[in-house]
Amino acid sequence: MALRNILRESEPALRKRSRAVTDFNPRLHQLIDDMRETLLKAGGIGLAAPQVGVLRAVALILDVEREAESDDGRIVELINPEIVAESGEQSGPEGCLSVPSLYGIVKRPDTVKVRANDRSGGAFEFTGKNLTARAICHELDHLKGILFTDLVERFLTDEELEEMSRERERERGGGSKAEAEG
Ligand code: NI
Repeated sequence: MALRNILRESEPALRKRSRAVTDFNPRLHQLIDDMRETLLKAGGIGLAAPQVGVLRAVALILDVEREAESDDGRIVELINPEIVAESGEQSGPEGCLSVPSLYGIVKRPDTVKVRANDRSGGAFEFTGKNLTARAICHELDHLKGILFTDLVERFLTDEELEEMSRERERERGGGSKAEAEG
């Protein structure tokens, strides 16, 4: 496995549509393994292939509510994902590993059901709620070239950011994440 460089907002690749994966080959597995390592190192709750410069429909999300010994055990690999059902509404802070230190309030569905392939090409469905639903929407947007900054209702002020980082400090060690950064 190897760390990959996370592209920043101004990179054209982040504005392009990713293509479907058709070959579930070792090259794909290498990409996914590298993305896993990159996501864990960055401490986000999701990462999409365009963020590492690969325009393929691959997204990883952390199922933050899943019982696991480490975040590695919470990663869900979504290849060719498609939202098939959504319900409810949530409004909350969101950030992006490609847009560092900028957070804004984004409205998302509360529950999202997604259909995807696993790394071997098998089909499965996965349902995420709350922060996990937010992560799914955020990463699937990346596959369409959409950034959260396109959807933001308002950006957080410096005071709100400070308060958020204080909360994060308090919660550190508890394994909880105060906001979505993907
Ligand atoms: Ni992002």
